[in-house]
Amino acid sequence: MKILLNNENQVIPEPWRQGSLLFLLRDYFGLVGAKLGCGEGVCGACTVIVDGVAIRSCITSADSVQGARVETVEGLAGDGGPLHPVQQAWLDHAVPQCGYCQAGQIMSAVALLRENAQPTSDEVEDAMEGNLCRCGTYQRIRAAIHSVAEVKR
Ligand code: FES
Ligand code: FES
Repeated sequence: MKILLNNENQVIPEPWRQGSLLFLLRDYFGLVGAKLGCGEGVCGACTVIVDGVAIRSCITSADSVQGARVETVEGLAGDGGPLHPVQQAWLDHAVPQCGYCQAGQIMSAVALLRENAQPTSDEVEDAMEGNLCRCGTYQRIRAAIHSVAEVKR
């Protein structure tokens, strides 16, 4: 089984096909940006992008992403390249507190802004409502997303 992971072709060994995409990414590939939070698809800490769509990797079987393009937060900037505009906006707005939820938040924001470069506040709310933050960084997250949209305007 093959996937395109952060723009590199990868082969998934048979035993890893049986578990979740989250554990494949974290424990086999060592990509630990996506986090295990609820493990039930409701907190968004494990969010990655599969074929352009932000998904919850904790409830996605590794097997189901065969042949897909999988993107994690580690792949956004590229090797030694500049930060992705969303990552830069997160820095500029000092978004993270403990940081646990932030890779998932960033991946949801990236997926949103690719689909809709200038989302309204309601559209941002809709896209981000499934990403919870126990530290309450919501205002800074929204400000960072709108700042990226502003630059594209
Ligand atoms: S850990 Fe996947 S949605 Fe919470
Ligand atoms: S920054 Fe701590 S959970 Fe979001």
